[in-house]
Amino acid sequence: MTNAPTLGETAATPRDAADRNAEARPARSGWIPGTDRIAFGGDYNPEQWDRDVWVEDIALMKRAGISLVSIGIFSWALLEPREGEYEFGFLDEVMDLLHGAGISVDLGTPTAAPPAWFWRTYPEAHPVTRDGLRLGHGSRGMASPSSTAYRAAARGIADALGARYATHPALVLWHVHNEFGAPVSECYSPASAAAFRVWLQNRYGSLDALNAAWGTNFWGQRYGDWDEIDAPRTSPSIVNPAQRLDFARYTSNALLECFVAERDALKAHTPHIPVTTNFMATNCPSIDYWAWSREVDIVANDYYLVAERADNHVLLAMDADLTRSLAGGRPWILMEHSTGAVNWQPRNIAKRPGEMARNSLVSVARGADAVLFFQFRASRSGAEKFHSAMLPHGGTPTRIWREVEALGATLGGLDDVMGGSVPARVAILWDVESFWAQDLEWRPSVDLGHRERIVAFYTELWRRDVAVDFAHPHDDLSAYDVVLAPASYLLDAASAANLRGFVSEGGRLVSSYFSGIVDEHDAVPDGPYPAGLREVLGLRIDEFLPFRADESARLDDGSTGTVWADDIVLDGAEAVATFEDGPAAGRPGVTRNVYGTGSAWYVSTKLDGDDLGMLLERVLAEAGVESAAAHPVAGLERVERRTDEALFVFLANHGDTDVEVADVSGIDVATGESVSGLVVPGAATRVIRSELD
Ligand code: GAL
Repeated sequence: MTNAPTLGETAATPRDAADRNAEARPARSGWIPGTDRIAFGGDYNPEQWDRDVWVEDIALMKRAGISLVSIGIFSWALLEPREGEYEFGFLDEVMDLLHGAGISVDLGTPTAAPPAWFWRTYPEAHPVTRDGLRLGHGSRGMASPSSTAYRAAARGIADALGARYATHPALVLWHVHNEFGAPVSECYSPASAAAFRVWLQNRYGSLDALNAAWGTNFWGQRYGDWDEIDAPRTSPSIVNPAQRLDFARYTSNALLECFVAERDALKAHTPHIPVTTNFMATNCPSIDYWAWSREVDIVANDYYLVAERADNHVLLAMDADLTRSLAGGRPWILMEHSTGAVNWQPRNIAKRPGEMARNSLVSVARGADAVLFFQFRASRSGAEKFHSAMLPHGGTPTRIWREVEALGATLGGLDDVMGGSVPARVAILWDVESFWAQDLEWRPSVDLGHRERIVAFYTELWRRDVAVDFAHPHDDLSAYDVVLAPASYLLDAASAANLRGFVSEGGRLVSSYFSGIVDEHDAVPDGPYPAGLREVLGLRIDEFLPFRADESARLDDGSTGTVWADDIVLDGAEAVATFEDGPAAGRPGVTRNVYGTGSAWYVSTKLDGDDLGMLLERVLAEAGVESAAAHPVAGLERVERRTDEALFVFLANHGDTDVEVADVSGIDVATGESVSGLVVPGAATRVIRSELD
């Protein structure tokens, strides 16, 4: 039996955790047991095929060097065809066949797709949208995370799988659920509303505290009884923003409780087998992965290119860096990516030759010690039949299959990189609670965008080959020389104090507009903006001055700002650049303040491209952080990963033409040849190893 947490009562909500750093991240065990090679493989869905196809598939897996497959993720209806009745025959056979071929298994719990009998028996478990629409069956996806029937059924199948396969020699990893939070996360069912109230009681203790935190005297929303509080469903006008922010916190936590319940059911049978679930690091707006990463044994992540964007590989790099940061710098699993086109974007652009390998190797460069795909064999039926696979509909004669085989061989030569770190002296703040709050309605401009700003800052560092971590604003930042806060709308008192401490101890902080504006209840603290950052930035903001659409303003350093300016009053800071025109003409646009032994910069407008990049170069230079000359987005990406013995320089050419790299020498891992300077052909990736003393 497992001790399932009671609704709303797991550990703490993300920001409730008094000291995030007190708890080691990630959680418990090290790496996938018995694995001394970079794991290679993918999701495998044998239930879609006859047994003779399994045999053929496993032979092809061997041929491609596949070592790990994720199975059972969508098998609930086969494994438990009637409530409480289990039929494990097909899974037993697949597990045995895989083991016989020396392929390890990442065994899924199938709780992202409850069977038809479940929905018929427990219709109340259907999720309900904010508009009151009850979502139906016939697809896949989460049930209401606060449904007791769902939690019991999910725990039941996890427990049965744990009991059945505890000693199976193929089992090396548990894969709980699939992409918690997608495609739906928030649920407004009666069970969810009730669980939300329990969560609020735990958080606030008293209605007085809740009324104060939510500012319910505004618009006469005061509550006199807990039962009067509802989930923040669609209403005539905008709903109390603090209530919505808390509902987002409750939702992330309710989903986490579902993960923890399954994990504990599995751990009761297999304490030695690590448990993970696949994150979507930059792409799941509803989950606070900092809290989740403490609960998984190994961080695993799915990433799909935004195919049409010319900078899609920069977004991939950013996602990988966030994933590594969630893993506390330790290796992580690239659990899913695609060999070619996906099937769910407006235009599903095929990957070009070499692109799959670049995506995979850049992930390894940025900390992944496992490279897996969705999925091994392309489906013939169902919603995903036009999604690429390792083995496409065209079979082994295809280019994709040849590239899969080649990638298996390349990864086979990279085992020594395992466990290596990606040292970074720069961190970008990433706080999903702030994003939740900023995304609520009635903000000063529709052009404000936290993701857009973070991508812009990240891109300029990427173009200069600067290694970057992501950090939560509560984290110990002392390992970094530069911290960037491009979008920290919500900064609680502890975060602001942390940033002040970082700068006073010699760090360089770059903050940008609409940061430090509200506290953890989406309330404006006393005094001028930006409350907790006024002192460290050496300024105050008298008024926001958002721009009209398409308006821009020149600054006297030659840069151009759009979207935003502040009416800044300097209070110790110097003006680095001043607006020459626009709504803030004559006012400072970029400032710098010496504080303790460090300095804090403020960028009050939207700078892009080299305007932003040159400013960041100045900050990096002041901090003594090296940066390369800026290269184009369709250029050569250079990432360094190091172990105790060796430095591995990964060079991925995202352009079509050859790029000469003069300052790299060592052994080309693919050919074994010694190089001193090299040419990386268009679309290609090279990995150069040099020994460390
Ligand atoms: C992922 C999901 C997989 C598959 C894939 C297709 O989000 O986990 O099951 O649907 O997308 O790109």
